[in-house]
Amino acid sequence: MTKLNIFRLVLIMVLSYLSDRANGRVNFKGVDEKLKQLNKPAVKTIQSEDGDIIDCVDIYKQPAFDHSVLKNHVIQMKPNFKLKEEKLDTTSFSSKLVVSQTWQKSGSCPDGTVPIRRIQRKDLLRVKSIGRFGRKPQEIVSKSNTTNLKKGLYPSNNTTDVALPTIVNRSAANLVTLGYNYIGAKAEINVWNPNVAADDEFTTAQIWLKAGPGDNFESLETGWTVNPQLYGDRRTRLFAYWTKDSYKSTGCFDLTCSGFVHTNPDVALGAAIEPVSSEFGQQYHVTLGVYMVTLTSMALSHFSKIQTDNAINHYYEQMNMIGLLKRSTLVEWGGQVYSTNVKKTPHTKTAMGSGQFASGLFGNACFIQNPNIVDYSLSLKYPEWVGTWADDYYCYTAYNYQKSYGTLPIFYFGGPGQNPNCP
Ligand SMILES: *[C@@H]1O[C@H](CO)[C@@H](O)[C@H](O)[C@H]1NC(C)=O
Ligand SMILES: *[C@@H]1O[C@H](CO)[C@@H](O)[C@H](O)[C@H]1NC(C)=O
Ligand SMILES: *[C@@H]1O[C@H](CO)[C@@H](O)[C@H](O)[C@H]1NC(C)=O
Ligand SMILES: *[C@@H]1O[C@H](CO)[C@@H](O)[C@H](O)[C@H]1NC(C)=O
Repeated sequence: MTKLNIFRLVLIMVLSYLSDRANGRVNFKGVDEKLKQLNKPAVKTIQSEDGDIIDCVDIYKQPAFDHSVLKNHVIQMKPNFKLKEEKLDTTSFSSKLVVSQTWQKSGSCPDGTVPIRRIQRKDLLRVKSIGRFGRKPQEIVSKSNTTNLKKGLYPSNNTTDVALPTIVNRSAANLVTLGYNYIGAKAEINVWNPNVAADDEFTTAQIWLKAGPGDNFESLETGWTVNPQLYGDRRTRLFAYWTKDSYKSTGCFDLTCSGFVHTNPDVALGAAIEPVSSEFGQQYHVTLGVYMVTLTSMALSHFSKIQTDNAINHYYEQMNMIGLLKRSTLVEWGGQVYSTNVKKTPHTKTAMGSGQFASGLFGNACFIQNPNIVDYSLSLKYPEWVGTWADDYYCYTAYNYQKSYGTLPIFYFGGPGQNPNCP
């Protein structure tokens, strides 16, 4: 048996372990057991002023190492690849890179440890079932004919316009590209703190790297979110997500299951980011990327890299998803609102982006600048074909605004949700 075959065997075992857990066959006796499983012993604990507790955990004792496949894994602190970055459009944007998270005011983690947001008892008590903790609700394609709800320039793969499905209980305003195999995506995402009307609703501004059709896809995601049920408040928080089956039974936010190997000593997944932008005031953005790279000669793995302004490329490495997204066929950038009151009246008041429509442009609407893809040439570049669309276009809009010929468009998206045109 070749090394490659052995590796595939290991891989299959890991994946079936993941789905066993998800199907609830691993029976957590209770909240205490679940907390013990989620939270690893801390070398140092930081009490953040926003109520978060950040545990500095030995880098080799983080949740991902619960998987036997990682037993002898040596964490690679730097990606073994270098992306060629095309000269990006540097529009004279007065937006600053956000580099801080609230907890950082209260301390930092010692060498050899990574900051992990502690899951507290109250976090688990907010969810209906412990088994669903840290998970997005499953995505189901709407059976009813909702084509007429959508508006936009449908993405095309060179010649054919492709209609993306409408999803139950979700409303999106996105920029989409398809037609190639993508191995990464990156963007500068403007940071806001939109209203979320009910505790079981959430709003995101993010990147999706996806493979698979309709409601049967694999996805690797990063961005910011306001998600009261998961985090217990309405702050804007940095997140990462993975799933192999459209959120049905695999994957989770952040480090709430074994998935990502976190290596960044300065950034805690799920922790609040600040400052946020204000209307016609200072704008802030985060630069986030998701990449699949060859880890060794025989394995593909993925990196989600956070760039900070000190030019050190911190990243969190995602190991257990080996086998996920051998190729991604679709990249989306934009916002999504989860609510049982989208595409209906009365519509949710949960906002997307800044809470203002895309037509408000810079300083008013939420922007995504330099939405780049990575293909097999390992260059970051603006996608060849893009489409924009909005599910609920009287409630949230999408606008790929090109200031003048020869400049790269900037994608604006969002809206207030319920308003006079979206009752
Ligand atoms: C769905 O609605 C659109 C627009 O109203 C219409 O063009 C299309 O034929 C409908 N499709 C089906 C399957 O009814
Ligand atoms: C474009 O998409 C259509 C519909 O999904 C598919 O039939 C066609 O093969 C695709 N073409 C290319 C060049 O990928
Ligand atoms: C796009 O379609 C045109 C016309 O069919 C074809 O000539 C061209 O090679 C295609 N480009 C790519 C990148 O597939
Ligand atoms: C959508 O929301 C309804 C409640 O309005 C709920 O019963 C249903 O389970 C939800 N479906 C999905 C797929 O989230």
